[in-house]
Amino acid sequence: MSGFRIRPAGPGDGQVLTDALVEAASWNPNRPRTRADVLSDPVRLRYIASWPRPGDAGVIAVDDADSPIGACWFRLFPADRPGLAAVDGVPELILGVRPVWRAQGVGRALLRETIRLAEAAGHARIALSVERGNFASRLYVSEGFTIVSSGDTADVMVRASR
Ligand SMILES: CC(C)(COP(=O)(O)OP(=O)(O)OC[C@H]1O[C@@H](n2cnc3c(N)ncnc32)[C@H](O)[C@@H]1OP(=O)(O)O)[C@@H](O)C(=O)NCCC(=O)NCCS
Repeated sequence: MSGFRIRPAGPGDGQVLTDALVEAASWNPNRPRTRADVLSDPVRLRYIASWPRPGDAGVIAVDDADSPIGACWFRLFPADRPGLAAVDGVPELILGVRPVWRAQGVGRALLRETIRLAEAAGHARIALSVERGNFASRLYVSEGFTIVSSGDTADVMVRASR
């Protein structure tokens, strides 16, 4: 792989975010989720429905040919229709990188820029859900996230601005 760059996610990026949502949900080869599985889950669909809504923000990683290779974005959900990481008044993020581009710094770069965007928008905290066993939790801890609640199979993590 050669270089990549990060650009803002725009109104035309709904499909890119949909692909990243599928990547994010399909991390576990021992418990595969098809694209159809992911896109028939009404809670996961909340992360991409009507993108972009006011207050949404995120970034896309692209390769040297400007093809998308990953995405990270956040959205603030209404309290009665949260995503997977419900914490009152705290936006939730999703992060996914295409398999051939993993473990090359793309995920960390996307995460850092999304955190920066959330802070710039005035959010003191940002939340996410990570399934237990996913090494992504190590990335999140190293970027300042801590577990605030745990379900049967996943943890909710929050990062507070420093
Ligand atoms: C999780 C994910 C977004 C991380 O993005 P990435 O580009 O692969 O990660 P990076 O190269 O930026 O690495 C960040 C950290 O992740 C961890 N990591 C990355 N690849 C790893 C691997 N193969 N095994 C274990 N840890 C790994 C390391 O802690 C790494 O930090 P380090 O390089 O300082 O050691 C990406 O691998 C992915 O899309 N995975 C599938 C979907 C997913 O799990 N999304 C998150 C759902 S909550």
